[in-house]
Amino acid sequence: MRTKIVAGNWKMNKTFLEAEELVAQVAEALDTRKLDNKTVVLCPPFPYLELATDIAKDAKFSVGAQNVYPDDSGAFTGEVSPPMLKSMEVEYCIIGHSERRKYFAESNEFLAGKLDGLLKHDIIPIFCCGEVLPEREAKKHFKVVEKQLNESLFHLKKNEMSRVVVAYEPVWAIGTGVNATPEQAQEMHAFIRSLIAKKYSKKLADDVTILYGGSCNAKNAKELFSNPDVDGGLIGGASLKAVDFLAIVDAL
Ligand code: 13P
Repeated sequence: MRTKIVAGNWKMNKTFLEAEELVAQVAEALDTRKLDNKTVVLCPPFPYLELATDIAKDAKFSVGAQNVYPDDSGAFTGEVSPPMLKSMEVEYCIIGHSERRKYFAESNEFLAGKLDGLLKHDIIPIFCCGEVLPEREAKKHFKVVEKQLNESLFHLKKNEMSRVVVAYEPVWAIGTGVNATPEQAQEMHAFIRSLIAKKYSKKLADDVTILYGGSCNAKNAKELFSNPDVDGGLIGGASLKAVDFLAIVDAL
């Protein structure tokens, strides 16, 4: 069955005390909610993962990292490996975020290695894809996303692909206040699902969770999530305030 997910990507925000406060607020508010088939994931910066996983033990959310290095260990100063995340009970990891692609030149091929590393250690990858504005304006957005999936994801075996969460994040919508319209999101999500069906099977494609990300907020979440192929959201700015994030959780 397809899991519905709201994941908060905090990016590089919050001091330790602020992080402690936000995790506690979310934990407390979720305590009184019935989440059924919904999963809530918090993805704080690396230094706060332990704080989050500690609280998550008795709370209704899971913890994700925002990045990972493909290898298990070695001389890679400043990097964090899949077994390290696993040993801290981190269950999810965002990869391929457009900010990593842009500022750290992460290629589709490099991301394929990260997927392998995460899956080997039983961590669920949240794989981000999406086009930049000139690509959409040139009507190349489907081609761009197809290439990202082909080069990073589609080497996976069926039993690996079935554990991946995909997040469609049109780059022009990230942090701009201009979200994709529900129609644009649905159209791309259905396209992504059709590619997965063609490569693997319809059954597998039907079960893959595909999140929308990009200026998703308390006001537009319900309409975005009401589409049949939009299974939740990957939330940036609006995940930094408990009330806003929880309103998005409630909209799913
Ligand atoms: P915003 O919600 O701030 O647009 O960011 C989306 C995002 O990049 C989530 O990964």
